[in-house]
Amino acid sequence: MAHRDTIFSAPIEKLGDFTFDERVAEVFPDMIQRSVPGYSNIISAIGMLAERFVKPNTTVYDLGCSLGAATLSMRRHIQHEGCKIIAVDNSPAMVERCRLHVSAYRSDTDVEVIEADIRHVDIDNASVVVLNFTLQFLAPQDRQALLEKIYRGLRPGGILILSEKYVFDNDVAHELLIDLHHDFKRANGYSELEISQKRSAIENVMRPDSIAVHKERLGEIGFSSVEVWFQCFNFGSMFAIK
Ligand SMILES: C[S@@+](CC[C@H](N)C(=O)[O-])C[C@H]1O[C@@H](n2cnc3c(N)ncnc32)[C@H](O)[C@@H]1O
Repeated sequence: MAHRDTIFSAPIEKLGDFTFDERVAEVFPDMIQRSVPGYSNIISAIGMLAERFVKPNTTVYDLGCSLGAATLSMRRHIQHEGCKIIAVDNSPAMVERCRLHVSAYRSDTDVEVIEADIRHVDIDNASVVVLNFTLQFLAPQDRQALLEKIYRGLRPGGILILSEKYVFDNDVAHELLIDLHHDFKRANGYSELEISQKRSAIENVMRPDSIAVHKERLGEIGFSSVEVWFQCFNFGSMFAIK
């Protein structure tokens, strides 16, 4: 049974920046499920995309893996021999729990869980790279270099799956989609206090881009097919094929 996220349920006098610490790792499955519209659909579809794009003797990367939900979904779908999944996160609490989740089930596909900054890991011989709600936590000036490194490390025909929260240039649309997201959180049992305290804690550390910015940057880097394949309110997922 997942622990319920009550981190922001009582008034917090000094609201610091949101971090992926032990308290967050403990409640993370509940937090992300109740906060990100479409999360479980995206996790399932990442497995389906991996089934199509993973090639024998290649490496699959899950960057900012948290507890390994995308890794486990992909591992269930990989049929080929000689494949390995490298799951990376720089939160010790996430990595520790991710290793437990990964080792709970046996599989022919190896998974290596690495505690590291995704800006400093090598990407090589990749058929699939996943950034599932991770890029938005990187400083904006570091995003281009990471995506260029992923492009270089992907084999021709390889795929990047990039899920993010989005901002919208049109103010009316932007506010409406934020309101709908907050309705989604209310419907999932979060109080007004929880919604507003979480919003304040996360706004300094999570800086989303617009769909147009993502598409332009991925296109400039050289990806040939860049499409949004899922969107619910201000959250969505793209693929970019090399
Ligand atoms: C919203 S969570 C990702 C959720 C996860 N991909 C999933 O599908 O369940 C963002 C994760 O990215 C990690 N992260 C953020 N910046 C990072 C960096 N520079 N290097 C490695 N991990 C990072 C955080 O520790 C956190 O676990």
